[in-house]
Amino acid sequence: MLRVAVEAVSPGAVLARTLYASNGQPVLRAGHPLTHSLLHRLTSFGIRFVWVEEPAVGQVPAVEPLAPPTALRVERALHRVAEAAVAGAPALPDALRAELVSLAGQVVEELEAVAAGPTAPLPYPTVPAADDGRAAWVAGAMNRGVLAGLLALAGPYHLYARDFVLAAWLQDAGLLQPAPPLPQPAPPAPPAPQGGGAGDDRRAQGDQAPDPPCRPAPEGTAQADPAEPGRRAEAPPPDRSGVAASDADGAGSAHAAPPCHPSAALDPPRAAHQPALAHVHRTLRWLAGVELGGLVRALVAQHHEQRDGRGYPDGLQGDAIHPAARRMAAATAYTLALEGCIHRPGWLPHEAYEWLLAEGPRLWGDDVIRELAGVLHPYPPGSLVQVDGGPWGIVVDSAGARRLRPKVRLLPVRPGHGAGSGAAGRGRAPATEGSGEGPGAPGPRGQAPPGAPAADGPAAEGPGTGSPAAVGVIDLLEERTRQITAWAVAWPASAAPPAWPAGSPRPAGAGR
Ligand SMILES: [Fe+2]
Repeated sequence: MLRVAVEAVSPGAVLARTLYASNGQPVLRAGHPLTHSLLHRLTSFGIRFVWVEEPAVGQVPAVEPLAPPTALRVERALHRVAEAAVAGAPALPDALRAELVSLAGQVVEELEAVAAGPTAPLPYPTVPAADDGRAAWVAGAMNRGVLAGLLALAGPYHLYARDFVLAAWLQDAGLLQPAPPLPQPAPPAPPAPQGGGAGDDRRAQGDQAPDPPCRPAPEGTAQADPAEPGRRAEAPPPDRSGVAASDADGAGSAHAAPPCHPSAALDPPRAAHQPALAHVHRTLRWLAGVELGGLVRALVAQHHEQRDGRGYPDGLQGDAIHPAARRMAAATAYTLALEGCIHRPGWLPHEAYEWLLAEGPRLWGDDVIRELAGVLHPYPPGSLVQVDGGPWGIVVDSAGARRLRPKVRLLPVRPGHGAGSGAAGRGRAPATEGSGEGPGAPGPRGQAPPGAPAADGPAAEGPGTGSPAAVGVIDLLEERTRQITAWAVAWPASAAPPAWPAGSPRPAGAGR
């Protein structure tokens, strides 16, 4: 079985896992064929992804972090948080606060069961079709909440896991809020005196090429590649960061593109990041007077701090950072390493994991990184990975020593069906001409990228509708020369190669 975006499921596919409403009632049981009208209705219910049968890969021990009704309630509540922030609500509404507190308690109960289980949970995907970015923000908040909760449960803050979940859900609300008007430009400076000095400094700064705008291009568009003038770069994927509400003149707009969500440990300081750096203070102002507890506030306030003093917003050093916040900051940095930013492609999970082991102790402490490394599983079963830039497969075993080099069952090659826009991971840009995809590309039976013209072959062919195909298994623990080169947590996934902006940080060991 595979997790597939609803709009990418071909009619005739068979549902592999029962779908539930937010009240816990089943709405469609496993084994039911998905007709065109059913798929349309699922979308209208807000269901974006389904598990469908794929005979070629059989059963996969994939575990989702939360019970489906709980996940649906959390998703809806976070959408309401996003709407309130985007709309410029003066504070988190109290009814929503109470619902979030209650949900966080339920989430912790379910995460305790996951933590005690044998299989690591699969992250939640982002919808491939972009809205204004709100869905990406919600998916990011949900996944950060899961990771923060599991991290808390694994260490000395296990009694405060609910606070960790709440903080992870709310800490980035400031990314969504309307930006305050920018200050008026200063009057022109008088001519600089001859012979150098500050005037020369200003001219030198003015000669530098400005940073590209710290926001993705609208979905489906391309933008100038800062690394290669004249070359058109892929439009950034829709799920890199949150939703912004600031347009060029600083006035709020619910449909403007989001700012980056920089990590001080990963992203060198840029002028273009300044609006995003303010999101922590904005969130704190939004939560001022909201009854959440002191620990939640500390976690929110310090979720981008690091011990070397280079974090933000306050540049706290060493023990000035709350020990609980060191944990939240490390978990946040890991998730941002995967998400990337317009100036930096998202890293592969094993790259981010290795980076965390190498740099994390210095930035957040040995104890924190030990706990975090214990709960992080870069490729849980059900992950989709591409091997050596070629075939895509699904992770079937990543336990023990296979945590970074899992066992992968390859997806069948279905002539005429390329891969589409990605749901997560490197190479998420929409497939384009020349991306190496097309006839012969691997992929689930009958799946074409959303919006793509009908591919060759029966249109009704979808996951689970055909006979099992002969596929192989790659055990990356044994085949040490083979590498994961792209990943996703739901189909369709992209085979587009990563594009590294000039000067962008890269994980240690990239390209090995
Ligand atoms: Fe943040």
